[in-house]
Amino acid sequence: MRGIPGLKRLRLKIWRRCTLVFFLCWAACWMVVSALLFLVHRSVFSERCTDEKSRRILARLRPLVILSTDLPRAVPAAALLNAHGNISTAYSLEVMCLDYSSGALTGDLCEDLCVAQKLVYKHCLYYDRGKKVIQADWRGQPIILKSKKEIFSSYQHLSMLEEVETQAIPETELLLMVALEVKNVLGLELSNNTMEPLWMRRKGPHWKAQVASMWSLLQQEEYIYFSLLQDFSKHVLRIIGSCGHFYAVEYLTAGHAWHKTLFPLENVVGPSLAGSRSRVRAIIDIALSFLDMVQHFDNDFSHRLHLCDIKPENFAIRHDLTVVAIDVDMAFFEPKMRDILEQNCTADEDCNFFDCFSKCNLKIRKCGAQRANNNLQVICDKIFRHWFSPNLRGPLVSFPQQLQLQKAVRECAEPAHEDATMHQRTPKSLSELYHLLQVSQRELQRAE
Ligand SMILES: Nc1ncnc2c1ncn2[C@@H]1O[C@H](COP(=O)(O)OP(=O)(O)O)[C@@H](O)[C@H]1O
Ligand SMILES: [Mg+2]
Repeated sequence: MRGIPGLKRLRLKIWRRCTLVFFLCWAACWMVVSALLFLVHRSVFSERCTDEKSRRILARLRPLVILSTDLPRAVPAAALLNAHGNISTAYSLEVMCLDYSSGALTGDLCEDLCVAQKLVYKHCLYYDRGKKVIQADWRGQPIILKSKKEIFSSYQHLSMLEEVETQAIPETELLLMVALEVKNVLGLELSNNTMEPLWMRRKGPHWKAQVASMWSLLQQEEYIYFSLLQDFSKHVLRIIGSCGHFYAVEYLTAGHAWHKTLFPLENVVGPSLAGSRSRVRAIIDIALSFLDMVQHFDNDFSHRLHLCDIKPENFAIRHDLTVVAIDVDMAFFEPKMRDILEQNCTADEDCNFFDCFSKCNLKIRKCGAQRANNNLQVICDKIFRHWFSPNLRGPLVSFPQQLQLQKAVRECAEPAHEDATMHQRTPKSLSELYHLLQVSQRELQRAE
């Protein structure tokens, strides 16, 4: 009889020990996971740009009165003040470049940025390994400054500029160089008049700096795309001007994957109109503009333009709800796309280039040069699916209409079948989506 309470005590003891061991294990796991999360977090944030660093980048374009005595013009002391109103640190002064003042680079915005202080730094928006993207204020309007690299001298130098007086370089030779660069970047041969936006004919005392600056801009694929498509497309960013290797573009409302509606609509429809009907109407208008953009990039240029990095962050919307491609680093015209896709392979996965896929021909172990998916499919998958899911529409659009839209988006996003290339499927998906979105738009208008 006495053995039973003893056994109970023993069990209790064992149970307590087990609980303690379990608790200690749990605490240890928790600490390990927290430490890991902290490390991951820190590495994510350390990749973000800092204001101080970005200011230094721009400061490099600024003339340095303290160190330079032979400046072409007087420079206000304000040019040397940092955001806190202090004279910049010795380090900043040291790294500040004399490129503009020494006449190494130029551009229509240099005077405002470097001397008149009418172009003022606001924030940086990039990841360290990406290109430099800086928000600034230019004469009271927000703009974005972009450059693939931080420092002017990191761009390939035009050795010809050293050897001869630039004025002596025949224009035809320079034009040929521009054409070769465009061919190299876009894979297209363009006529002289198409290249006009990339080419400045002005001659003058700063011609050498002009050519050197133009050359640094020509090494940036995005600048070439935006410049060439300016007059042909409302779906690319407007270029406002440049200074050295930085070019300025319009500031728009950019997308974010974490945003409930992907694009912060309150910025475009205004806070007073941010009710759910206005939001849904805006989403439908933006979706229609995405379709316009798809059909424009597919048909309106001499070659189809493929977008291989489709995500909300790489698009923005104007006030009139036009969709604009703001990051075209991964955009390729058909000839270049074919070169990129045509690789050796052992399986289909080897033929995936970001959002652009082709199929592996196992007999010859080569990827097909023809893209197997298309821009619309990826937009349906990565953008429309988010919008036209059961929880976003709410009761504003009729239920059958919602179901049809969801089905159409699902079908559009699904990968192509073996025998039907996406090029054939596109018009059907596109016209079906156009139709359904227009019907939804009319339903909403009637309900108002
Ligand atoms: N014109 C613009 N207007 C507003 N925001 C912009 C603009 N251009 C870029 N951004 C913001 O900066 C981010 C990074 O720019 P992006 O050109 O996509 O660079 P990256 O090549 O590093 O992705 C974008 O996701 C967007 O949030
Ligand atoms: Mg981007």
